Amino acid sequence: MLIKSIESLNDGLNILWSDDSSSHFPWLWLRDHSESKADLHPDSKQRQIDIFSRPPNNSVSKVLLNINSKHISIKWTDDSESSLSFKLLQSSAKPSLPQSNAMNFSNFWNKPSEIKVFPEMSYEELMNDDGIKNWLNHIQRVGFVLVTDAPATPEATKQLMERMAYIRNSIFGGFSVWDNKLESPDDTAFTSLAIEPHTDGTYLNDAPGLQTLHCIKRDSVGGENQLIDGLAIAEKMRQEYPDSFNILCNVNIPGRYIKTDTYLEAHRPLFRVNKSGDVIQVSFNNHDRAPFRLENDQMSQFYKAYKIFHNLANDPSRQFEFMLDPGKVLTFDNWRLLHARSSLTGYRQLCGGYHNREDFESKLRIV
Ligand SMILES: [Fe+2]
Repeated sequence: MLIKSIESLNDGLNILWSDDSSSHFPWLWLRDHSESKADLHPDSKQRQIDIFSRPPNNSVSKVLLNINSKHISIKWTDDSESSLSFKLLQSSAKPSLPQSNAMNFSNFWNKPSEIKVFPEMSYEELMNDDGIKNWLNHIQRVGFVLVTDAPATPEATKQLMERMAYIRNSIFGGFSVWDNKLESPDDTAFTSLAIEPHTDGTYLNDAPGLQTLHCIKRDSVGGENQLIDGLAIAEKMRQEYPDSFNILCNVNIPGRYIKTDTYLEAHRPLFRVNKSGDVIQVSFNNHDRAPFRLENDQMSQFYKAYKIFHNLANDPSRQFEFMLDPGKVLTFDNWRLLHARSSLTGYRQLCGGYHNREDFESKLRIV
């Protein structure tokens, strides 16, 4: 948007935008947000101006509107100069509390048939120039992506993951290869048992953002995977069970992971929402829920709400079910989707790992 005109007032600058709306920016804010080379490091984009140690004299000498370079220059009486782009001014035109971005609400799915465009692409497409953009968009849109025709090797899977960003380290290691025949598995994921719908890392303050799984050897029966859109359940509960939805937004449920030399615990509501009430993270793992007790009537309300979520997540009609086969690499948003697995007999070998949520968001911003 362009700026039609500006007007200097005692306490700040009035800006009249091309759509006839207007904004009033205080002088101190303008000085603090200057993008001049002296005030904002041109390479690191880190703030250099410090308005706190030596409060500046905000007496204005002159304000210039430069339509061509889409900047406003403010010359102060102390001979310093601030520069602000239209882009920055426009992004801050309306005051608001900073908050985490809401998830993409336009494409949540209550059943697999609601997924309009199936999120699938070939390994070759992903590894080519623009492939990563489609891969990211699939995950942002429906919460997961399947990459087909991938070489069924740990090396190729690792390369696929590193196409996005570095692989996160965790108590399970970084990029890992495992099978269901471990002598002493430290998680149900490494067994042949069925696993209920859950998100990973409810016992971590920062749960993994993306999870990638590739079954590179399979000589087994059963073991189908299920994906469930936690965002769709949140919106259903918000509409149909608002009291229960509120409880699940407000009770910090403890998750835990206990082994001989490890005791992890974290607390988070099942639905984490931003200040607008939009869901920004879903966390649910009944297997890893740690003991806690509310007042009796509150506990009863909590159980009721948790049960509604649990039963919706376990409703087969909500589940996209498929078999992980060699060559097919699944990546899903662990802050939005729940995943589950049926029990299996036989042998299978998998590989994969995690990405941080912020690295996924970073890549979305720059590709
Ligand atoms: Fe899991």
